[in-house]
Amino acid sequence: MVHFAARLKPHTLVRMMFEKLKVLEETFNCALRDGDSEAELANIKAQFLGRKGKLAAILKALGQMPMEERRELGRAANDLKNRLLRKWVDARADIEKISIDKKLKENWIDISLRERDRAGRVWEAGLHPVTIVQRELEDIFLSMGFDILDGPHIEDDFHNFTALNIPESHPARDMQDTFWFKDLKHLLRTHTSTIQIRGMKQKIKPPFRFVGPGKVFRCEAIDASHEAVFHQMEGMLIGRSITVANLIYFEKVLLNEIFGKEVEIRLRPGFFPFVEPGFELDIACLICHGSGCRVCKGSGWVELLPCGMTHPNVLKHGGIDPDEYNGFAFGLGLDRLVMMRYGIDDVRLIHSGNIDFSKQFAV
Ligand code: DAH
Repeated sequence: MVHFAARLKPHTLVRMMFEKLKVLEETFNCALRDGDSEAELANIKAQFLGRKGKLAAILKALGQMPMEERRELGRAANDLKNRLLRKWVDARADIEKISIDKKLKENWIDISLRERDRAGRVWEAGLHPVTIVQRELEDIFLSMGFDILDGPHIEDDFHNFTALNIPESHPARDMQDTFWFKDLKHLLRTHTSTIQIRGMKQKIKPPFRFVGPGKVFRCEAIDASHEAVFHQMEGMLIGRSITVANLIYFEKVLLNEIFGKEVEIRLRPGFFPFVEPGFELDIACLICHGSGCRVCKGSGWVELLPCGMTHPNVLKHGGIDPDEYNGFAFGLGLDRLVMMRYGIDDVRLIHSGNIDFSKQFAV
């Protein structure tokens, strides 16, 4: 507690008080310099800045001073308080940094440790087959003037369904078994078609074309050709007076480019709410060459590229005027492509995390 003798003149009192503030700051600085743990810092804060601390005691004594002096000293004391607090916060950040650095040093892991084969040769890391195929496709699309866009894995109802012309309670929602979040508003995207909407909103003015590759998630019964997590690449091309003939020609060129040879294809009508008309594009199974296997479910054909002319409602949701523009969209199944390319007959291998499996594709 600080007491003032009543007989001291006000200006002497003020000088004394300023002196006290100065001394307080100096002792605080010393204490802070010596404090080298979070506990010590907490102590220093309580001692100097706490409710019963040194600064509070000085402020209390201010109450006994005449108005004029009180104002001047009050301002100085407040400035001091802010200054001390800032220094204290900086000191705590320094201590935190030191403790994080220490932990990082203690828990250091050599992530460069290389796997070796039996002969002791270092095995260079390689890309996963899905990544290899995705990158090749991206190169093809880039050469055809497409942009490559991205979208979030956690989506909302609007981008995954409503904006794609699948309104709430529409039976088409049941076509895709969905992992919903508890709020029933968010979900793990069931297809990359969500990127159609995000892409249109981003591009704003046609003509444009883009693809959007990525993981998709479905609550599926898992078998040789179904996984709960798989990969798609969405494509969209919007312009003026685009026709189904344009779509078919484009898909043909694309598939020949992907497989590096003429592949046999067939087109069937297919229902997808976001396209009208919609198609299923199948290619002759490259694993069994048509005789029937697990991958093509004995049919000799593999569904590879569902596609169609973009529905006007979808254009509207993407902010595009359907009276002025139109176009097409398609969804490539990347895992299927990988299976066709490498002759893999079980999709589950792709996500098995089995190094011996993945190693075979490393380039
Ligand atoms: N999103 C559909 C699915 O995952 C695939 C699809 C169908 C994409 C037709 C398209 C399309 O762009 O036009 O089942």
